Amino acid sequence: MNEVLVTDDAGLRTIRLNRPEKKNALTRAMYAAMAEALREAAARPSVRAVLMTGGTECFTSGNDVADFKARGDQAADVPSPAREFLAALRACPKPVVAAVAGYAVGIGTTLLLHCDFVYAAENAIFRMPFVDLGLCPEGGSSLLVPQRGGQLLANELLMLGDAFPPATALRAGVVNAVVPVDEMMATAEGVARRLAAKPPAAMATTKRLLRQAGEAALTAHMTEEFADFSALLRGPEAAEAVAAFQEKRKPDFSRFLAAE
Ligand code: COA
Repeated sequence: MNEVLVTDDAGLRTIRLNRPEKKNALTRAMYAAMAEALREAAARPSVRAVLMTGGTECFTSGNDVADFKARGDQAADVPSPAREFLAALRACPKPVVAAVAGYAVGIGTTLLLHCDFVYAAENAIFRMPFVDLGLCPEGGSSLLVPQRGGQLLANELLMLGDAFPPATALRAGVVNAVVPVDEMMATAEGVARRLAAKPPAAMATTKRLLRQAGEAALTAHMTEEFADFSALLRGPEAAEAVAAFQEKRKPDFSRFLAAE
């Protein structure tokens, strides 16, 4: 079964996650497929806007936890597909709209920070549980969440890592609007189609200008975040968190000594 469905219709490219039995958890192959779909969208003149969605049940439960382990076992200089996907998303000159329902965990939340419009259904549940996985924030979230939502809210969302509702995602500057589940796809698609109908050079220039002030700082910050994330991914705290997830038990971090 194709776990990333890509369709083009009248200038709108839709990228739909399709791994429902694993809550759309993202494998390396899925990141690569999404990155390819975004690079193609950037290069193909007939594509004028992109819609990303997981449908009305679940956006994505984030990185496949088993894949985390595989990545942790790899040499540190092997390129990370998640990182390449985020690079393709950030580099896309066409407007990107996200339609989010159900769980949006980990990169399922942080990727939204790089979309241009985000519509959340009332059943959406966001979570950035990096610390609980023995990891640190990724995807620029440790810069963008405090910037958009303020330091104290960012501390809550990224240090405690609890699940949060769409109303909090609005306060955090992660979503544009919250809509009933049965209106989410139509709302997001309607905006994406309006964007696709606008003059493309004016649109691409506007997107570039809206983003460029913070781009260099964000790129530098994301490079540092990825290095920290990658080091923690190879460490014992992440190993305990992944083992606990796979064994369906609570992790025990009590044996780890606090850093000085
Ligand atoms: N990676 C791998 N498998 C995942 C997954 C993930 N990120 N998220 C869910 N799954 C799998 C579950 O292991 C389960 O598989 P099984 O049926 O073979 O046991 C299946 O998807 C359904 O998930 P389940 O946990 O039963 O659904 P739920 O509705 O009770 O809970 C979540 C949904 C998203 C809250 C929960 O699955 C979860 O916390 N997942 C991990 C999220 C995470 O830590 N992601 C990494 C972020 S950096």
